[in-house]
Amino acid sequence: MSENFYERFGGAVAFEKLVDEFYENVKVNDILKPMYPDEDFVAAARRLRMFLEQYWGGPHAYSDERGHPRLRMRHAPYSIGIAERDAWLACMKPAVEQMGLSEELYGELWGYLEGAANFLMNQ
Ligand code: HEM
Repeated sequence: MSENFYERFGGAVAFEKLVDEFYENVKVNDILKPMYPDEDFVAAARRLRMFLEQYWGGPHAYSDERGHPRLRMRHAPYSIGIAERDAWLACMKPAVEQMGLSEELYGELWGYLEGAANFLMNQ
């Protein structure tokens, strides 16, 4: 049986590395930093990590804890226009690049993240 993306990407350790690096960048991003409630990056990082793991075929901790993702609804309290989308992707890009992925995995992951970021714009 072929491995799913979660496994090919490197499992829990790899998702933690990706999300940790993303939030290191968010913390110093002038557009994104103020958007996070109480600037609680540890809890936010955990939610994003659980979501991505589940999306890519890993454990279902996200839905066990949070229910259906409904990402558009969950982002409705935040004003997300082009500047916010671009800032989010700019924080994510170096996080993805540090993973040293094959072209195939990189394309699959980055294509998804770009599409999701576009989809979550609400301005
Ligand atoms: C387009 C730019 C984006 C902005 C400005 C943004 C901003 C935010 C903010 C401020 C939060 C609240 C932090 C928290 O308490 O969890 C959040 C939550 C979250 N975001 Fe985003 N986000 C963006 C794109 C994305 C994308 C592309 C994804 C997925 C691929 C994503 C997945 C999530 C998840 C899973 C949560 C936690 C939802 C929950 O369970 O409450 N976001 N986002």
